[in-house]
Amino acid sequence: MSRVAYVNGQYLRHRDAYVHIEDRGYQFADGIYEVCLVIDGSYWDYEGHMARMERSLNALHIRMPMGLAALKLVMQEVVKRNRLQNALVYMQVTRGVAKRNHAFPKNGATPALILTAQRFDLDQSDSQAERGVSVITVPDIRWRRVDIKTVGLLPNVLAKQAANEAGAAEAWQVRDGFVTEGSSSNAWIVNDKGVLITHPKTNDILGGITRETAIACAHDLQIKVEERPFTVEEAIRAAEAFITSATNLVMPVVEIDGQKVANGAPGPIAAKLRDAYKVRAKRG
Ligand code: PDD
Repeated sequence: MSRVAYVNGQYLRHRDAYVHIEDRGYQFADGIYEVCLVIDGSYWDYEGHMARMERSLNALHIRMPMGLAALKLVMQEVVKRNRLQNALVYMQVTRGVAKRNHAFPKNGATPALILTAQRFDLDQSDSQAERGVSVITVPDIRWRRVDIKTVGLLPNVLAKQAANEAGAAEAWQVRDGFVTEGSSSNAWIVNDKGVLITHPKTNDILGGITRETAIACAHDLQIKVEERPFTVEEAIRAAEAFITSATNLVMPVVEIDGQKVANGAPGPIAAKLRDAYKVRAKRG
């Protein structure tokens, strides 16, 4: 069975799904995206992902190409047509097609919307969580509005490639000595008092939806959370470390720049949070 993508009103075979060469997403990275996890038909953290999508679009003055109810139907249809039980749904909106000129098109353009879905293996993610992952650190060379989930991801691409080449799963980006976030996830540590520490939600990180739900879970579990930047040295000395994202849920980090975090095994707090996250995210 061939994969199916949604492109501007049509469901196409993935291999035949194209956008125009003058789409501003292609020309200028003038667009945004969102990623939502679907498990057994329930859209995890759905409200949060949709709210962030609207926020990203507003920040770039691009209008939502369709209402949220219609978009939900398209999401469901893409998952169904790909015959997926568990999936990551990628949604991307660009300013649309216009003659190349940096400024917005004068008469406005019709925003372009594409959706794709790929299989998500929750069991595989769970077994990875039992082993934990390694991260490296790289300089954060990104612009100052990474709170907008734009498709302009070149620094993130370079960071992830550096991680891959080092045999690590993620690269933690460092600005002025402090870890901001991963190339596609938020970064967390746990101190020796069991307090969770993660960068505050500023323009220097993407406000992760998983991060938000993980904070709510921590409150439910009566685990203290400090939203403040931490250094690489602090992370290496931490009791535990982990990352959060729609694609990782809560994923323990066991090594930073080749140095073990604590005894090099995933910690109990990350495991507890991962379990709690699964329950809470399901509520949508
Ligand atoms: N990335 N920070 C960055 C830079 C990200 O790209 C992501 C998500 C996150 C976590 O956000 P959330 O918890 O809402 O998934 C933080 C997605 C998964 C991606 O690019 O595929």
